[in-house]
Amino acid sequence: MGLMQIFAPKGAALATSTPSLSQPTALSRIHLSPPQLVGTELEQLRETLASGWIAPAGPMPQAFEAAIAEASGFRHVAAVASGTAALHLGYRVLGLQPGDEVWTSSLTFVATIAPAVQMGATPVFLDVSPTSWTIDPELLADALKRAAGQGRLPRVVVPVDLYGQSCDLDAITAVCDRWGVPVMCDSAEGLGATYRGRPAGQGARLAVFSFNGNKIVTAGGGGALVSDDASLIARARHLATQAKEAAPHYQHETTGYSYGLSSILAAVGLAQIAALEERVAQRRATFERYRDGLGDLPGVSFMPEPNWGRSTRWLSVMLVDPALFGADRERLRLALAEAGIESRPVWKPLHLQPAFRGASYIGGEVAAHFFETGLCLPSAGLTPAQQDRVIGIIRACHGA
Ligand SMILES: Cc1ncc(COP(=O)(O)O)c(C=O)c1O
Repeated sequence: MGLMQIFAPKGAALATSTPSLSQPTALSRIHLSPPQLVGTELEQLRETLASGWIAPAGPMPQAFEAAIAEASGFRHVAAVASGTAALHLGYRVLGLQPGDEVWTSSLTFVATIAPAVQMGATPVFLDVSPTSWTIDPELLADALKRAAGQGRLPRVVVPVDLYGQSCDLDAITAVCDRWGVPVMCDSAEGLGATYRGRPAGQGARLAVFSFNGNKIVTAGGGGALVSDDASLIARARHLATQAKEAAPHYQHETTGYSYGLSSILAAVGLAQIAALEERVAQRRATFERYRDGLGDLPGVSFMPEPNWGRSTRWLSVMLVDPALFGADRERLRLALAEAGIESRPVWKPLHLQPAFRGASYIGGEVAAHFFETGLCLPSAGLTPAQQDRVIGIIRACHGA
């Protein structure tokens, strides 16, 4: 069903100025991770509008928070305007101060660290493990030991659940606990993943989810900060709603943000989250189909899945060794783009980004290698015919 069919009021003619949102066809553009509607969004929206509760408060954000708590296994949830806002609130409630160090994976989206840097913190980037593409716990253990010896431990360590793959959280929290450093897990890409039989992120002091338009569950835009510590989430909620003190007038002991999640978006998120398991199964099936269709080619491999859990395969990621394959990942990306198919290089490591020139980096070339050779393929809502087109174009590049 197309967007317009879902969102146009029954029987209403669409205004001629309405931007065209045409039905996908076998040959239409194929996107990396477009929003996939469940079909119950409109019903939830109608109910929300009919109730009059459309502000960022009331039953709908509460219901969405309860659903996030159930999916993530965390007891306390603050649904907010974005994953970036949730990270910002996380840094605030952990007491991050200018000059504090924040340690995170270099292989991530910039939003993991951006709010910390904007608060005056100093980023330190770590390389990833080749088996999980997430922070290497041994590297972290050695580096924390050295930092403790120098009396400059980080204020927080932020591992990232990359592309739907949980980090090795038990190993990471064990080394951080040893030095009393809290862990905030950036699970923006990790909702639905599991780690040692539990939902990804569980075991961290705080975790963050994103519900932006390209995520496995989308509210159109939105995020959540979650914890088992009620006081941290109460504090985050206070800051997210302009830090208003309990008084008849506007009283502020500190300044906060306008980070609440509107009820309208929460309604969409609530409809979407009900389909989480189905979406995980679909993304995993898409990944397997790529592996079946491309895995025999020389120089082609795929993001691994460590045996500690289930990746959602939020994005299907392949690696191309140009010497064996005969073309590099950029050649593949351009060939796909020419056919109207969106693909993306793996995240450019943050320690290589001009924005963080001069920042400390701990590790080797693993993250950089994944950036050089990794390509994220269209991962959602593909028909078999569309996926065959993607596979066919990549196969045609072999030896080209
Ligand atoms: C790893 C990671 N962290 C943080 C974010 C930020 O989430 P949002 O776009 O909801 O602000 C994203 C997604 O964009 C992400 O992929």
